[in-house]
Formats: sequence, structure tokens, C-alpha cells
Amino acid sequence: METLIVAERVSKRFLIHHNQAHALKSRVMGLVHQRYRQRTEDFWALRDVNLTVGRGEAVGLVGRNGSGKSTLLKLIAGIYRPTSGRVLVRRDATIGTMIELGVGFNMELTGRENVFLNASVYGLSRFEVERIYDAVVEYSEIGHFIDEPVKNYSSGMVMRLAFAIAAHLDPEVLLLDEIFAVGDQAFQDKCRRTMKRFVEQGRTILFVSHSEKSVREMCSRVCVMSGGQKVFDGGTDEGLDLYDRLARHEATT
Ligand SMILES: Nc1ncnc2c1ncn2[C@@H]1O[C@H](COP(=O)(O)OP(=O)(O)OP(=O)(O)O)[C@@H](O)[C@H]1O
Ligand SMILES: [Mg+2]
Repeated sequence: METLIVAERVSKRFLIHHNQAHALKSRVMGLVHQRYRQRTEDFWALRDVNLTVGRGEAVGLVGRNGSGKSTLLKLIAGIYRPTSGRVLVRRDATIGTMIELGVGFNMELTGRENVFLNASVYGLSRFEVERIYDAVVEYSEIGHFIDEPVKNYSSGMVMRLAFAIAAHLDPEVLLLDEIFAVGDQAFQDKCRRTMKRFVEQGRTILFVSHSEKSVREMCSRVCVMSGGQKVFDGGTDEGLDLYDRLARHEATT
């Protein structure tokens, strides 16, 4: 199997700022008094994660809130740089992302403008965007809201448009984060069908979800994240069982 994505001992550190509620006061007072100085703390959202994804794989990424799933996807998408380690993506592999509500959107612009913006960032020419435009709008079921600023959309509508764009850009790799969180049932079913077709076409999906059912349906492989580390990488049933046990164990401790 041809390798598309490799993460090698990837770590990501964030700086957590305390005293943010009194930011201005702290900053002024901090000039004079030590105890008002803003304290920052290192926080490792990911530690030493290795991941290799081959062409045609559908990999589910599961784990509790804060375990590092979105951070890992953002590193692969190139939104973040790793603090250490490296992420390699095959040069010619095009990536479609639907990572977080609104990421990649300019909320002041209309839906139409955002389709063009997103697609051009992705590398499509104006002519190519025009060719897919109608299909994107139809798929998103946004209707005449397409000419409204995205800030006036409901979160479900933002998600629909983002997924519609990602799906129509025809990428080889789809990075999907919680796409089922806000869509209604009908749209979720539509997303599922699209993703299944995607997999059948031999394309690659990295899929973060809290829905065991969707992961089971879509993925032949599961990675379990816990506390910024990958604690399991293997078969879907085994991975979901482990995650289940982990979640229950952590809930009682
Ligand atoms: N930009 C940031 N600055 C500071 N800390 C961050 C930042 N992004 C993420 N974190 C922290 O890193 C940890 C991992 O976050 P991440 O979003 O990757 O979790 P997740 O597994 O996607 O969780 P969820 O299931 O809630 O979406 C969390 O503790 C989070 O608070
Ligand atoms: Mg997340």
C-alpha cells in the first residue's frame, strides 16, 4: 500500500495563559509587581505520536474530549506546525478538510464568496470553481442563503456548506472532524453516503468522531487517543472496545 501521510514522533505544545480575565490590569500591574505578571504554562496537547496512513484507508480517530484528535488533524492539514517531530504528506496528494466549524471561512463574506475563496485556496482556478459551484450549492441545500453572509448561518448550515465544498473539491484525502455534531439526520445520512462512496473509490479518510456507529460503518482501522498519546492503532472492533473501556475507567477515577 502506498503511504500518503506520515507523522513521526509528533508533539505539539501550547502555552496556556493564566490571568486572562484581567488581562489589561495584569499587564499594567505586571510592569510593577511580580505577582501580577501573567503566568504561562506549557501544555503538551500531543506527545510523540506516530501515524502512518496508506492510500485507500479509512481511519477512525477516537478519544475523549481534549485527547488531541483535532490537534493531530490540524497538524496533518498544515494548520499547525509540530513543536517537535515531523509530518509528511505525499506531495501530490490533495487534501480536503472539514476540521472545525468556520475554519477556512470568512464569516463576513457570503456563502458564494466563501465557496470561491475556499476553492482558490485549495488551488482551483476560477473556471474550475464555476464548474463545481452549482453542485456545491445544491448539495449543501443552503438555497438562497448562499448570498447571505456566513455569519448569519446556523451552525448546521455552516457545516453543510463546508462539507459540500470539501466533497466537491475531489480530494484524495479527506480530513473530517466531528462532521456529525451539528448536521440534522437527513444531512448526516447524505454525508455518510458521500463518505462511503469516497472510500469505495479508493480514497483516504481520516475521521474524528464520537459516534461509534459511524466509525464502525466507515472505518477499517481505529486509532485511540488518550492524553495526547496514541494508545491503540489497529482493528475497528478492538479499538472501539478499548476506547469504551478507557472512557468508563476514566469516568470512575
Ligand atoms: N490553540 C490552543 N491553545 C491552547 N491549548 C489548546 C489549543 N488547542 C488545543 N488545546 C488543548 O489541547 C488539548 C487537545 O485538544 P484537541 O482539540 O486536540 O482535543 P480533541 O481530542 O479534539 O477533543 P474534543 O473531543 O473535545 O474535540 C486540549 O486540552 C486543549 O485544551
Ligand atoms: Mg476536537
